[in-house]
Amino acid sequence: MKDLSTFIALLEREGELNRIKIPVSKDLEITEITNRVSKSTDNNKALFFENVEGYSIPVVTNLFGSKKRMALAFGLKDLNELSQKVEEIIKFDLEGGILDLLGKGFDIFKRVRNATSIKVIDNPPCQEVILKEEASLTAFPIPKFWPLDGGPYITLPQVITHNPKTGKRNVGMYRLQVIDEKRLLVHWQVHKNGREHEEIAKSLGIEHIPCAIALGGDPLCTWAAILPLPSDVDEYMVVSFWRKEPLEMAKCKTQPLHVPAHAEIVIEGYIDIKDKRLEGPFGDHTGYYTPTALYPVLNVTAITSKRNPIYPATVTGVPPMEDYWMGKAVERFFLPFIKLLIPEIKDINMPVFGVFHNLLLVSIRKRYPGQARKVISALWGLGMMALTKAIVVLDEDVELEDMNRVFWQMFGSVDWIRDTILVEGPVDELDHATSKKCYGGKIGIDATKKLKEEGYDGEWPNVVKMTPEVIRKVDEKWKVLNFL
Ligand SMILES: Cc1cc2nc3c(=O)[nH]c(=O)nc-3n(C[C@H](O)[C@H](O)[C@H](O)COP(=O)(O)O)c2cc1C
Repeated sequence: MKDLSTFIALLEREGELNRIKIPVSKDLEITEITNRVSKSTDNNKALFFENVEGYSIPVVTNLFGSKKRMALAFGLKDLNELSQKVEEIIKFDLEGGILDLLGKGFDIFKRVRNATSIKVIDNPPCQEVILKEEASLTAFPIPKFWPLDGGPYITLPQVITHNPKTGKRNVGMYRLQVIDEKRLLVHWQVHKNGREHEEIAKSLGIEHIPCAIALGGDPLCTWAAILPLPSDVDEYMVVSFWRKEPLEMAKCKTQPLHVPAHAEIVIEGYIDIKDKRLEGPFGDHTGYYTPTALYPVLNVTAITSKRNPIYPATVTGVPPMEDYWMGKAVERFFLPFIKLLIPEIKDINMPVFGVFHNLLLVSIRKRYPGQARKVISALWGLGMMALTKAIVVLDEDVELEDMNRVFWQMFGSVDWIRDTILVEGPVDELDHATSKKCYGGKIGIDATKKLKEEGYDGEWPNVVKMTPEVIRKVDEKWKVLNFL
């Protein structure tokens, strides 16, 4: 899927996009409409605002805001297929005949080869219009989202920088506050790779970091920007890997960087790490305003775009919102990798009300005493999972999407003194509840069946359930019972 227009056309064909033709203000009104739609159970669609007051450029929101739309971005029918597909790729087993093996091997070879090579094209669509001195951020309908926001914000960007030491690319989604027509504030939080680039630059005495902001392109480019990949692993490799072809890139006009060639809009510039200003407040995905804090300024050196660009945005706020589904895809994508490292894990779920970092549910195949504690510790040691404030471990028979079942087991099968681990450590920078910024208390809850060695004195009771034989008989009778 080359670009945003292709994705929008697909969503439209699937009945997943509503066009809004009436005039709408970019400030607050787009938020109010998108917020209502995001929370609707029967009318949650992507929104294409054709008539943004004062602008000829349309705005699109809620692109990824449902399970179906997120799956469509991957070319899948169901988002759960994402874990299966990734598992098929990474679990290259030696089963099957020689032809089967060759086929699988060739597929993986092709994916890796494409992922590790980039294709730079001439006359890219993202440079149909090139503005340098005359470039102005005010030409674009960048919304102010919530009443107390510090200004207008770019909320769906691919922020591209290179590690000043290794030269490797990073793509991160970090919101950008507009200061004026040529300056933005880059909100990269302390745990993020872009922020690490800033710290490396500082240690090397480098004051300016070249930076490009891409909006649009293949929808997976936008999604990949939120992947918490290790430092120096290029997020765009995942896009090429998935699509089985090298991502087409364009050379920037004023910075030594490359951007997706089919982006709608590209902002080129440099980050002045010495020029830090107060960023925020911002109505964040936690559902609270994040307070102001110092972040560096990006000075714009050029803005390039398609001739008739579309401006993509996401609205954050009290969940459920679009970011939940973007995060759900990250969860599904990483599950097979997590299982490789912690094989007893059957499934994981970050429920919508946990806003990613507040709650992780895990089901495990428990075999030995203390295993749930081992899983909790392993997860707290795994990349950005380290920021998870509460981890609840349940037995493998608990379906993690079934919140009644989860809470029933979680509250019923726990002795809060015996089965909890309290630790202190790093927490998400957006967390408003801990006493100190980025540091605070976390809880691990072992809600699995307890064993004798774990201090449980007695026989763990059986769950009340019917025999398979009666279930089968009643299934038959159910067909003639007409009260349902
Ligand atoms: C809609 C949305 C907005 C985000 N905004 C920010 C942000 O402003 N700052 C930030 O540090 N992370 C933000 N994130 C999370 C990062 O994109 C995510 O942690 C990602 O892994 C960062 O890339 P990195 O691992 O290369 O640093 C946002 C995520 C989403 C879905």
